[in-house]
Amino acid sequence: MRNAFFLGKGGVGKTTSSAAFALAEARAGKRVLIASLDPAHNLGDVLGKRLKDKPLRVEENLDALEIRLSAWVDRYLKDSRDEMKETYSYAGALNLDSFFDIMKYSPGTEEYAVLWAIEHIHCELSPDYDLVVYDTPPTALSLRFLAMPAISNMWITELAKLRERILQRRQIVTKINPESPVASSCVDKDDDKVYGRLGSIKRRLALLQKLFSEESFVAVVINPDSLSVSEALRIKEELERIDIPFSAICVNKRGLSKAPWQLDAELAEIPAFYFDFKPEGLHERDDLMRLDTQDLVAAFDAAASEGIR
Ligand SMILES: Nc1ncnc2c1ncn2[C@@H]1O[C@H](COP(=O)(O)OP(=O)(O)OP(=O)(O)O)[C@@H](O)[C@H]1O
Ligand SMILES: [Mg+2]
Repeated sequence: MRNAFFLGKGGVGKTTSSAAFALAEARAGKRVLIASLDPAHNLGDVLGKRLKDKPLRVEENLDALEIRLSAWVDRYLKDSRDEMKETYSYAGALNLDSFFDIMKYSPGTEEYAVLWAIEHIHCELSPDYDLVVYDTPPTALSLRFLAMPAISNMWITELAKLRERILQRRQIVTKINPESPVASSCVDKDDDKVYGRLGSIKRRLALLQKLFSEESFVAVVINPDSLSVSEALRIKEELERIDIPFSAICVNKRGLSKAPWQLDAELAEIPAFYFDFKPEGLHERDDLMRLDTQDLVAAFDAAASEGIR
């Protein structure tokens, strides 16, 4: 296991906790990449370094990047357009440009863009590091992109079956009437471009599903208040549904409020780690080291070395 995701409600301290964790691991000698997936980035501010969409050195052992979601959306749309043109000969007759203008604002587009950004980080960048830490956007978008591989896989499986049926019908028609115009089109799924494309998307999504469900440590950040706990419960339910582990709870800003507070019984079995509220604020990178991430680092390292969830 070489990946850690920090999820949670807006403002609870995902960026702070993920950066503190990444810094502690880096200062303990691991080669760490921290990547912000949040379109409203502030990871650079927290680390005291202006970041780009490719890894930049923050300090020894620690590199960071902020993905440019708009660029990944554009790349995703361009790839989809190129694939359509290549795969469907009749696509030239359609007005693809207006179709893709609409797609830019369609549900799901941002989620796919985040997924392909993670795929890039995982496949191209992560081999240079011991671990990759992901700072995520607030819950709603994060749960949607985490669920995307499982949901899309169901769709693609059904589409592949449909495509197989189309090819079988073509075979039948060709046998009955070798003169049929269908005879000139593809009848074998091994040669069929559409079937091949579906297979390649399925493989890419399966790799991401495996990354999320088997190779990631997922920490949910909360504050000692009932709203963020309710959100953590919703996240727990969702993660169970999509078969992604809930590895740790980070209770950040402990002591901020004097109101009595206690962790919900449903979260009791999940390992919890506490970071105190720092009334003087966190202004510089070194301030992050004042959050007590030692036990969290030990838990991650143990999970990483055992390769267990
Ligand atoms: N333990 C702490 N003590 C004091 N201040 C903290 C602590 N943790 C976070 N903060 C402050 O709380 C604010 C929100 O933190 P942060 O940006 O890490 O949250 P976030 O969950 O990433 O927010 P967003 O959902 O907007 O991405 C920041 O001003 C940060 O400095
Ligand atoms: Mg943040």
